Amino acid sequence: MTTRLTIARPDDWHLHLRDGAMMEGVLPHTTAHFARAIIMPNLVPPVVTGDDAAAYRDRILAALPEGSDFRPLMTLYLTETTDPADVRKAAADGLISAVKLYPAGATTNSASGVRDFDRVRAVFEAMAEIGLPLCVHGEVTRPEIDIFDREAVFIDEVLDPIRRATPGLRVVMEHITTAEAAAYAAAGGDDLAATITVQHLMLDRNDMLVGGMRPHYYCLPILKRGTHRPKLVEAATSGSPQFFLGTDSAPHPQHRKEAECCAAGCFTAPVALSCLAAVFEEAGALDRLEGFTSQHGPEFYGLPVNPEKITLEKGDPIDIPATVETGAGPVAVFNPGRPLHWRVAP
Ligand code: NCD
Ligand code: ZN
Ligand code: ZN
Repeated sequence: MTTRLTIARPDDWHLHLRDGAMMEGVLPHTTAHFARAIIMPNLVPPVVTGDDAAAYRDRILAALPEGSDFRPLMTLYLTETTDPADVRKAAADGLISAVKLYPAGATTNSASGVRDFDRVRAVFEAMAEIGLPLCVHGEVTRPEIDIFDREAVFIDEVLDPIRRATPGLRVVMEHITTAEAAAYAAAGGDDLAATITVQHLMLDRNDMLVGGMRPHYYCLPILKRGTHRPKLVEAATSGSPQFFLGTDSAPHPQHRKEAECCAAGCFTAPVALSCLAAVFEEAGALDRLEGFTSQHGPEFYGLPVNPEKITLEKGDPIDIPATVETGAGPVAVFNPGRPLHWRVAP
């Protein structure tokens, strides 16, 4: 039985750090394990221009724990007034690694997102030309579409038409949650990839809803019917370079989660690697964990694999803290509801 596993230092290809006191509180939980992360731009107000991204990057760098060489990979929040020239310049300056598409109203802080996808055509074309990836929150927002169907409908109605209209556009389907998304990504070729979160690999909607509603399991896209989860595990553990880790660790103050109208997002950063080792072990695929956490992401983004290593070791269950204290209040830590035996060796 494997009880120790040494892998290249992981990266997180979808991370919410927020800003200010919240960022200062959550950042060390990512830098403890991850070398780089794609930083989501859904601040209020959002990170829209190259100048916004440079300023946000500098705030992150200034908040890094002593001695950390963590590298934030910045993104721009696509709006209907985004200037393709600004995107080109930010990419050419090495300031950004991707542009993020939020359909307006689809998720947390997405009000400034895109309503009419034709209005961002010129940006997509510029991105295809320079090979800059588009990270996509893939859900439609039409009120008549059931929340559990919004991802699958988005693929047919929005994503596939965009990709057909823009040959060469490199796309990351963020935090996929359905069998349909896994199949679409797998069939997409070199220009298409998908990130998968920890919670979608471990939980389904029953975990969130049976025996009482668990707000800390509420995230978007919402946890789906149990038939989808095995398809996501299959994709993550397949060894296919098209699937890699994006934790979507999304901290909200505890009072915003335990509320009449609960905010969407799971704060998984502190336990993400312990959770993933459990998932991959259960699937008999521990030998493919490194691909998912440390190799496929850099390959897609055209970056080197991190030269440093980390070691995971199996032993007594780890202590999962109920909360992490931040200057913006306590944040509940994701707990999958079962003991986690793998830890990152100090
Ligand atoms: C994210 C957040 O809180 O910013 N929430 C979530 O449920 N995933 C937004 C997002 O990634 O869609
Ligand atoms: Zn999202
Ligand atoms: Zn997210």
